[in-house]
Amino acid sequence: MGGLVPAGRRGEGPRRAPGPRAREDRGARGDARRERSLSSAGGRDPDGSRPPAHAAPPASLSGDRPLRGRNAAPPKGVGHEHDTDPAGTGGLMKIGIIGAGNIGGNLTRRLTALGHEVAVANSRGPETLTALAQETGATPVTVDRAAQGAEIVVVAIPFKNVPDLPEGLFDGAAPGVAVIDTGNYYPRRRDGRIAGVEDEGLTESRWTERQLGRPVIKAFNGTYAEDILDRHRPAGAADRIALPVAGDDEAAKKAVRDLIEELGFDTVDSGGLDDSWRQQPDTPVYGLREGIEGVTRALAEASPVRPEAFRG
Ligand SMILES: NC(=O)c1ccc[n+]([C@@H]2O[C@H](COP(=O)([O-])OP(=O)(O)OC[C@H]3O[C@@H](n4cnc5c(N)ncnc54)[C@H](OP(=O)(O)O)[C@@H]3O)[C@@H](O)[C@H]2O)c1
Repeated sequence: MGGLVPAGRRGEGPRRAPGPRAREDRGARGDARRERSLSSAGGRDPDGSRPPAHAAPPASLSGDRPLRGRNAAPPKGVGHEHDTDPAGTGGLMKIGIIGAGNIGGNLTRRLTALGHEVAVANSRGPETLTALAQETGATPVTVDRAAQGAEIVVVAIPFKNVPDLPEGLFDGAAPGVAVIDTGNYYPRRRDGRIAGVEDEGLTESRWTERQLGRPVIKAFNGTYAEDILDRHRPAGAADRIALPVAGDDEAAKKAVRDLIEELGFDTVDSGGLDDSWRQQPDTPVYGLREGIEGVTRALAEASPVRPEAFRG
């Protein structure tokens, strides 16, 4: 594997999503967009930090499992049939979103715009989510209600807070619920040192899965939050970007890939959760805005060595 870093990752200067304090004040998407443009900064990663240089060159990989790109089906809009339709709702799903910040908030916006029934929760309670509810039509709920009846649940909270989520969170979820983990471990800036990652060598999503006690699918972790609103494209568009998706449960992974494609992005199967170091912070694919080919190449170029800047 060469050291190729596809064009557009480092030098393009993608914009930064609004920080939590700015978010509290915004009441409408227009405000959010204004904040994003005000906070624009070059060379930022999806979580808003400046990416350090790679600490290690890409390792030579033997026995790579296939990284499969996918020719997306046409995006499904409101009322279109979804591949998985267990509830018989014509493709519209019940989706729970835990975390209403940069990622959770924008997923709430897009998924409601597509017609899905979204319940959204944060740590402070539903009464603090009235502006987002009015804007989107999502239902604000307490965390312990977020997964009720849900076919897909998105966990979009800071990594270190995952163990705080209530036990039995998924008890009332739909059978076979797919759980999306958007998280990244930022030991120095936010999360502190987490032994399971540092000492046991668990991938970030494997650690999260253990905290939650159920399988997760890793997706959106390297996606700029604003791209969820601004960079979706119809299938086949020349500038449609692809997102890597990792996980062990093939049925859940398919459901998540279908949803992402409906959201307006191609997907690349990046393997199982133990392979998901390939898309963790500071890897070539993290923050990459390229199509299936570029994403597949970037995943193959990743190093399993955790960069020094991302050690606690
Ligand atoms: N920002 C990005 O562009 C981006 C991109 C890809 C991945 N990620 C990753 O995705 C995750 C979320 O990032 P973010 O930027 O969206 O975070 P954020 O803007 O800080 O928002 C975090 C959200 O999580 C909620 N929360 C925190 N602890 C909670 C708990 N115990 N129970 C329920 N809700 C809780 C917060 O609620 P309160 O406000 O009420 O506390 C808030 O709504 C992180 O792991 C991050 O690294 C972020």
